[in-house]
Amino acid sequence: MASIPGGDFAERLSSILSICQKMSSERDLGTLLDLMAHEATALLDCDRASIFLLDREKNELWSKVALGSDEILRLDARLGVVGTAVTTGKAINVPDAYRDPRFYEAIDDRTGYHTRNLLAVAMRNQRGDILGAFEVLNKRSGPFNARDEEALTALASHAAVAIETAQLITELRKNQDELAQQNANLWREVESKYSAHGIVGTGQRIQQVVRLVERIRDSLVNVLITGESGTGKELVAKAIHYTSPRTRKPFVALNCAALPEPLVESELFGIEKGVATGVQQRVGQFQKADGGTLFLDEIGDLSLAAQAKILRVLQERVVERVGGRSAIPVDVRLLAATNKDLEAEIARGSFREDLYYRIKVIHIHMPALREIREEIPLLANHFLKEYANETGRELEFAPEVILKMAAAPWPGNIRQLRNEVMRLAACARQRRITEEDFWEGIPMPRAAAVAAPAVPAFLPAPAATAVSRSGSRSLKRAVADLERQMILDALNGTRNNQQQAARQLGLSRQGLINKMKRYAIA
Ligand SMILES: Nc1ncnc2c1ncn2[C@@H]1O[C@H](COP(=O)(O)OP(=O)(O)OP(=O)(O)O)[C@@H](O)[C@H]1O
Ligand SMILES: [Mg+2]
Repeated sequence: MASIPGGDFAERLSSILSICQKMSSERDLGTLLDLMAHEATALLDCDRASIFLLDREKNELWSKVALGSDEILRLDARLGVVGTAVTTGKAINVPDAYRDPRFYEAIDDRTGYHTRNLLAVAMRNQRGDILGAFEVLNKRSGPFNARDEEALTALASHAAVAIETAQLITELRKNQDELAQQNANLWREVESKYSAHGIVGTGQRIQQVVRLVERIRDSLVNVLITGESGTGKELVAKAIHYTSPRTRKPFVALNCAALPEPLVESELFGIEKGVATGVQQRVGQFQKADGGTLFLDEIGDLSLAAQAKILRVLQERVVERVGGRSAIPVDVRLLAATNKDLEAEIARGSFREDLYYRIKVIHIHMPALREIREEIPLLANHFLKEYANETGRELEFAPEVILKMAAAPWPGNIRQLRNEVMRLAACARQRRITEEDFWEGIPMPRAAAVAAPAVPAFLPAPAATAVSRSGSRSLKRAVADLERQMILDALNGTRNNQQQAARQLGLSRQGLINKMKRYAIA
């Protein structure tokens, strides 16, 4: 080979290195191909460059027609100078195109370009497989020389690695999108099946509540609903009212904790005009709820005096307004809720035992969200759908966000989860809500501050929930784990009735059986 002046050689080498750097940070195949063509023309001082990729199935080479265009040129992989480079694996240098039998004129006819000279080298990956060919056309001064061959060969070997990476990433993205779509469809089906009375949840604990609500729908028994804040006590109270024969009569909710003691009586029973100066007649909540349901929230916060008065109304079915002289008959069904332990309050003397038994004909206890973590994915998707219905903005969760949510402590229970979903939805920049969005505001478990919540076996422990963001294997695993758990739940909930479980999951029986085989569920 002719001697190459050191300076020129070093300059080219450094250009090649800088191009390689640019190539290795580009992940989008189309942009990468444009970048390669652009850089090669500058490096080799020529008019054009094309990258042909080998489609092994069809034995064709394909290339984008021009920089920035999406038009694709396809040709038989044995044809032309690029075809020769691919079949022989060698660099093919053609100083005079129209005199060379290997030159395939049809491409010039097709693109309207006039090729004078060209150089093509095969592109191989690190295993030595040929991925296609890198071709440069019409050197500006004279034909391509041995140094150009060397430079293009060096460039082509790096290009091959970058192309393979970009192809892999494109493929992974496609798979990921398909999975997310399937996941969203699955949720939609599950969701529509389980949202009776607006109480969402497929597990045993929530389904027990739903069944109880259904069982008492025709009776007018008093119900005490207990549970921590935000667990759905009011939701259940409404479900009871709106499935009862009183559904068209008023549902009146009163938060006892928000009532200052001097106002309790007038608020509950009403007040006559002129009891004190300037006082107008007011109807009390019991009377407002006449024929319907009165929901006394935080009943554990009522004073003993107020408790005594309520007991009287329940026994005698009449109210007396403050300052009134007559008893007004009322027909009210009482639902009460508290997050206090009323039996402990009774023991302390701050709650009346007789009232307790009167309001607790039926007792419904709402589980804390950390006790029913398996419901978190369904609930989160339910709230996201609620947001979409209100705003018309369709969003979705990245599966790793769901996993993180399922492991979070949620001291504020379902209300906190709902608020968090609404906040994430309102702040979402893109259709998909990702891990980064989630981490911004959520109180995550801290090793010491929060007692480690019990995490179901299918979930990673809170400390180990890091799901690699780009790793498609862990993404698939996450979805698979979730799917497997939902199938197990459905089978448990139906005592292994495959027909029913399949229906719950929105699958055919055969579809369920296939999945059970795949997940080795006996
Ligand atoms: N199982 C559920 N399915 C769907 N939404 C739920 C469920 N449980 C609670 N929610 C929602 O969570 C929010 C809080 O529920 P709710 O107000 O009934 O809780 P609460 O127990 O009365 O809370 P607090 O004790 O703080 O008054 C509401 O928006 C409610 O619709
Ligand atoms: Mg409430």
